[in-house]
Amino acid sequence: MKVSFSSVVALALVAAAPVLAAVVARVEGEITDAVPGKWLSIEQGITYHNSTSGPLVKRVGTEVVTCYGFGTKADRAPIVSVIDDWCGKVIGTHVNNGQTVWARYNYGSFTVYVSGEAINGCNFVIDGNCNRLLRLPVDGCNTSGVNGKQGGYETDLCGQWRTDPGCCGSDV
Ligand SMILES: *[C@@H]1O[C@H](CO)[C@@H](O)[C@H](O)[C@H]1NC(C)=O
Ligand SMILES: *[C@@H]1O[C@H](CO)[C@@H](O)[C@H](O)[C@H]1NC(C)=O
Repeated sequence: MKVSFSSVVALALVAAAPVLAAVVARVEGEITDAVPGKWLSIEQGITYHNSTSGPLVKRVGTEVVTCYGFGTKADRAPIVSVIDDWCGKVIGTHVNNGQTVWARYNYGSFTVYVSGEAINGCNFVIDGNCNRLLRLPVDGCNTSGVNGKQGGYETDLCGQWRTDPGCCGSDV
């Protein structure tokens, strides 16, 4: 489920945000961000795989969390800031089967990719579960503290929600 920058960049809308980033120190791949600063910029879009529209479905099924357990580490605070900002923008968006609504927030020394995809023939409207589902791989993975979060994704019958810190031109 890792997506390279190049595969999505054609669909990206780059939105420059005010530069308010806190100083971020980087030690041996560990991201430390004492004060959760603001991101520098946001890329976002909708990737169309093979969408078919159909009736809206209710949220059903077990929610399964998969932890990446490798790749870029980031602190919980900036990740959660990204989740809440992005969900605030996309709640109400209609997602058809095969579509992925996504964004990548750039903090300078790391990025946070978030996405929601409709799967298994489902179509849904993004609701407040966005904030909750994207937190699952943050709070359910790398649980020894608020640092070292490597992200993961939640899958249920109708959707897959991914939270993924990345770095240096890759979401890994
Ligand atoms: C989309 O899915 C339909 C039905 O499964 C298939 O016939 C069609 O070839 C697919 N299109 C693409 C671009 O994959
Ligand atoms: C994050 O958790 C995974 C297990 O899901 C573990 O393999 C990995 O080493 C952890 N990463 C850190 C930075 O603790």
